[in-house]
Amino acid sequence: NSHRWIAPKATDLRSPCPGLNTLANHGYLPRNGRNVSIPMMLKAAIDGFNVGPDSILQAAKFGLLSGDDPTTLNLDALRLHNLIEHDASLSRGDFDLGDNLHFNETIFKTLADSNPGVDYYNATSAGQVQHDRLAISLATNPNITNTPKEFAVRTRESALYLSVMGNPLTGVAPKKFVQIFFREERLPIAEGWKRPSTTITAETMDPIQNIVFEVSNWTFTQRCEDLVLGP
Ligand code: HEM
Ligand code: MG
Repeated sequence: NSHRWIAPKATDLRSPCPGLNTLANHGYLPRNGRNVSIPMMLKAAIDGFNVGPDSILQAAKFGLLSGDDPTTLNLDALRLHNLIEHDASLSRGDFDLGDNLHFNETIFKTLADSNPGVDYYNATSAGQVQHDRLAISLATNPNITNTPKEFAVRTRESALYLSVMGNPLTGVAPKKFVQIFFREERLPIAEGWKRPSTTITAETMDPIQNIVFEVSNWTFTQRCEDLVLGP
């Protein structure tokens, strides 16, 4: 069908976001990764993952600043460092250390190997991973950016992978599904994944994020201006 997974061609554009890339690889977003509007992203998120607009609209709006077109973006432009893209990612390198765009198995090992002994990840393991990824970046990247803005984005992203690949109400996600999502940017339908029946919202992610916040034991190493994100 029209939403089957097709690997991107060399001329197709992809982003540092496994979520948007998965949606493009399944044809919920343009497979060429070009001229993506906010309404297209909101519809794709609902159709592909049951992610509601309130949880990604801010990111989508920020995303338009990655290029010159007033209403659309190209996925690769989202690599723009410190717009949304940040250091201490789960699956990509830090900007100053080389490649902040493409999946990197070495970086991903921290998450892949987390929560040993069981076959799922959860908010506690995700918080530990956020802590460990930041520790690695602090130790290796003298130009790391680590303000409350980056922490808020990173915590939202942790809640997103647990929610779209697992149960949005418990934050428990099978390791196999999460790993396929990051490594192949594919919906693991053949492996038994189903689109969540609960719409993923800021409200469903809030309790997951609270646990991630506690467990990651985060402190800023730089400050930033207060963020004004809406009325
Ligand atoms: C990163 C999921 C929507 C832009 C991420 C990451 C996840 C994720 C799990 C972390 C990747 C990592 O740390 O390696 C999702 C899901 C979405 C979604 C499930 C639902 C549709 C969006 C939207 C935008 C966006 C609408 C903006 C247009 C980004 C960017 C990054 C990112 C720029 C890179 C951040 C970094 O790691 O440096 N996303 N995302 N995402 N997302 Fe999304
Ligand atoms: Mg990054």
